[in-house]
Amino acid sequence: MRILVTGGAGYIGSHTVIALIENGYDVVVIDNLSNSSPKSIERIEQITGRPVSFYEADILDKKAMNDILDKEKIDACIHFAGLKAVGESVQKPWEYYENNLQGTLVLVEAMKNHNVKNFIFSSSATVYGDPEFVPITEECPKKACTNPYGWTKSMLEQILTDIQKADSEWNVILLRYFNPIGAHKSGLIGENPNGIPNNLMPYITQVAVGKLKELGIFGNDYDTPDGTGVRDYIHVVDLAEGHVKALNKIKENCGLKIYNLGTGNGVSVLELVKTFEETTGQKIPYSIKPRRAGDVATVYASSALAEKELGWKARYGIREMCEDSWRWQSMNPNGFEE
Ligand code: NAD
Ligand code: WQD
Repeated sequence: MRILVTGGAGYIGSHTVIALIENGYDVVVIDNLSNSSPKSIERIEQITGRPVSFYEADILDKKAMNDILDKEKIDACIHFAGLKAVGESVQKPWEYYENNLQGTLVLVEAMKNHNVKNFIFSSSATVYGDPEFVPITEECPKKACTNPYGWTKSMLEQILTDIQKADSEWNVILLRYFNPIGAHKSGLIGENPNGIPNNLMPYITQVAVGKLKELGIFGNDYDTPDGTGVRDYIHVVDLAEGHVKALNKIKENCGLKIYNLGTGNGVSVLELVKTFEETTGQKIPYSIKPRRAGDVATVYASSALAEKELGWKARYGIREMCEDSWRWQSMNPNGFEE
C-alpha cells in the first residue's frame, strides 16, 4: 500500500514514516515545513536507508493536492499536518481554523476526487476537556475545549464523522493521542519546537542542555498525589506503531472508528522531572509557578479498546521516554539547526 502522510516532516509524522517504511509501506510525504525542517526527511532516509518521496506543499493548496494525487497512486492518508500550539491558537484563532479546518477540507476533497477514501486523523485527548472520568475511555463525553486549537480537533472529528456517515465507502479512524514525548532511539529525529517550548518534556530537555535556566512547574495545589498535574505520557515510537496498526484496521473496511492512544499510566510533573534526573544524570532546577490557564488536574487514558481492536499496546515506560528525549536533545542541542 502507498500511504500519503501529511505533516510527515514533523515530530509524530517523521516517526510514523519510519514505522511505515519498516513495515513495508510505500510513503509519500507532504509538508509545507511551516513547523519542521527538510533535515528531518534526510534523517528519515538515513535511518531507513530508503529514499522518501517528499513534496513541499501546503494542504490548503487545492491544485497542489490534486496534482500530487494525480501523480501518486495513493491507497490511504495519515493526516498529521496542522498547527498545534495551544497558546498561539488563542492569539491567532483565524489562522488555526483556516489551516486546520480548511486544510483538511481541501485534502479530503482532493482525496474524494481521486477515490481515495481511507483516512487516519491525528486527534487529541484535548477533546475530552476536563474529563468526566479517568481512565478516559472513548465513551467519555467530549467537552467544551479551552482553546481554538482544541476546537479544531473536536470540529474536525465531527466533520470527518459526518463525511463517513454520508458515504460508507470512507474508512475513517480518529486517533486521540495523549502526551507524546521521547524520540527515535538513533537520536537523529525528535521534537523540535520553535522558540521557548510550551510543552513539558522539551522544556525539561532545554533546561538540561543549558538553553533555559529553570523549569517553572505550573501549580502544586491540584488534587493529585503530589499536587502537580498528572498526564499520560506516551513514547512517540509507540504512537507511530499505533498508526501502522490502524492501517490494518482500515484494510478490514472498518467504517468510522475512534481510539485513544495512551499508556494508561498517569504521571505527575514532579515524577517526570525526577525520572528524567535519575535516568540522565542531569539536574533540573525548578520553581513552583501559578497554575496555567486551561490546565486540568488529571488526564490519562484507557487504551483497552486499541489493545482489543488494534492489537496495539504501548511498550515503553517513562524511563525510556526520558532517555530517548535526552539523547535527541543532547545530540542536537539546536534541533535540526546547525
Ligand atoms: P508538528 O508541528 O511537529 O508536525 C505537524 C507538521 O505539519 C509540521 O511539519 C508542519 O510543518 C506541517 N504543517 C502544518 N500546517 C501545514 C499545511 N497547511 N500544509 C502542510 N503541512 C503543514 O506537530 P506534531 O507534534 O508532530 O503533531 C502532529 C499532529 O498530531 C498534529 O495534527 C497535532 O495537532 C496532533 N497532535 C499532537 C500532539 C502533541 O502533543 N504533539 C498531541 C495530540 C495531537
Ligand atoms: C503537561 C503538564 C502542565 C510545561 C498539551 C495540549 C494537548 C496535547 C498535548 C496536542 C501539565 C505542566 C508544562 C511547563 C509545567 N497537544 N507543565 N511546566 O497541557 O497536557 O497537553 O500537549 O493536541 O492538546 O494541551 O501538555 O506538556 O504542555 O503539560 O509544569 O513548562 O506539565 O501544567 O500539567 P498538556 P504539556
